[in-house]
Amino acid sequence: MREISTARLWRGQTIRTRADVMRMERLHERSRLIRWSLTAGWWAGWLTVMTVWGCLYVPALGGALTVAALAWLALGPWGLLVVALVGALVARLWSRSSPSSWESRVTSRLRRFARRTRYRWSWDDVCAATGVKATDASHRVIVPRLLWVSLAEHVDELHVQLCAGVTPGVIARQADALACEWCALEVRVLAHPHREGWVLLRVVYRDVLAEDADDEPPASADLKWLRVGRREDGEPWWLRLVGTHVLIAGLTGAGKSGLVAAIIRALAPAIRDGKVRLVGIDPKGGMEYRMVSELFYMLAYGDDEHLVAALEFAADLMRQRAEALGGNVRKLLARMFGDYPLYVILVDELLALTTYIANRDLKDRANAAVRRMLSQGRAPGVVVIGCVQDPRKEVLSFRDMFGYRVALRLDSDVETRMVLSDSAYERGARCDAIPEACPGMGFVIDEDGGKRQPIKVRADWVSDAELSYLAAEYPAPEQVDVPPLATRSKRSGGSTLGGQAA
Ligand SMILES: Nc1ncnc2c1ncn2[C@@H]1O[C@H](COP(=O)(O)OP(=O)(O)OP(=O)(O)O)[C@@H](O)[C@H]1O
Ligand SMILES: [Mg+2]
Repeated sequence: MREISTARLWRGQTIRTRADVMRMERLHERSRLIRWSLTAGWWAGWLTVMTVWGCLYVPALGGALTVAALAWLALGPWGLLVVALVGALVARLWSRSSPSSWESRVTSRLRRFARRTRYRWSWDDVCAATGVKATDASHRVIVPRLLWVSLAEHVDELHVQLCAGVTPGVIARQADALACEWCALEVRVLAHPHREGWVLLRVVYRDVLAEDADDEPPASADLKWLRVGRREDGEPWWLRLVGTHVLIAGLTGAGKSGLVAAIIRALAPAIRDGKVRLVGIDPKGGMEYRMVSELFYMLAYGDDEHLVAALEFAADLMRQRAEALGGNVRKLLARMFGDYPLYVILVDELLALTTYIANRDLKDRANAAVRRMLSQGRAPGVVVIGCVQDPRKEVLSFRDMFGYRVALRLDSDVETRMVLSDSAYERGARCDAIPEACPGMGFVIDEDGGKRQPIKVRADWVSDAELSYLAAEYPAPEQVDVPPLATRSKRSGGSTLGGQAA
């Protein structure tokens, strides 16, 4: 009863006569017309903007469209047809005769233009569908803002401003869904180089690290930064060595020795000049290092006693240096490479020394020597490069003493988290997804755009022939034998080092 009276009241107030009804219909008609023209105008404007932008982005396409438009204006539809036929012929000839310039000037630019349009066009929908969203107090869905897109040949970077409730972790958890949506290999969430509250989404379409690299020069002048490979963004991979210990973790065949070879190649000129002394400790019977024994100041590859003796030699040497310098690290850094060469202790399988040795006394001594070097060796100029196959074992007890960690191909996410960190895995350091066919590929935590974050890298491949060449051309000026363990076991404070090591 109440509803009927309300309807009558409404009708009585607004529509009284036939003229009123006609006027209402005219109003409706006009507003529909306005809506349609606004929509059509919006689409026409959008199409114009996109066409102009597309023509500027792909100048070849812009030129062709301009010629076609002029021909149509001057000669009508026949002119347009002639231009279309000639254009198709030119395109065919160009793509056949110079595929690389056709690719770089036309197809690659068109692909990038299409990608940019897709990111912008579907950003809100993609975020809402993949769960990169939050809900505000009025139950409205809010998504981060896509502010800038920078496109490269195979890697795009989306600069995204986060919104309340959407953290970098939320996006990282949906990275696979975003990659599927954009048909990309992977999407990684990186800290933004310039802005807080923003993130950089790196969308990778082709893994350039899986392809062969051009040959690189063998030497690096600056010992602080060794060029050992490539980063996924095409930049060189610089490995920090002075002042830090390096842990290289990877399954068998993951490329640990390959990376060590790249490090040796970068160090070769300094080895020849006596600025760097390599101490090689190879529990695999010398399989890895004997081939280039000329480069080593000291090489241990025999039985366990031999290996532990070499470890203790390095640890004692470090202590002697620290004592001689009276803890004055600045003094050392100033004189480094002159009176005090940098000692690089290469241990091919760290666990073979600290865990797998059957003799308990030897094992304890090896552990103590490794710990001493890791905890005190940086300042006196003794750095350890340790390789491990299985990061789940005891090596993790001294993992944090390695300032620079490289995770190559690993078995599971747990191992990656253990070598790098939990957040590194969540930010896309998927070492368990590295294909077996790509040895030397891995992740490091390093500076990228001023922030420390996981970066995908691949070590340069150093062939056996190149290693033999380095051994012949850059031999160590001085070589010493490993001192016998018996004299070391007295632990007389390193007196057996004599004057051979400074
Ligand atoms: N950076 C690289 N680029 C291309 N191929 C590589 C690279 N590094 C290694 N390889 C290839 O992968 C093979 C295995 O690599 P490597 O011997 O370095 O593995 P590893 O991790 O040391 O294994 P293991 O633990 O058994 O010693 C090598 O024989 C080499 O052919
Ligand atoms: Mg190896």
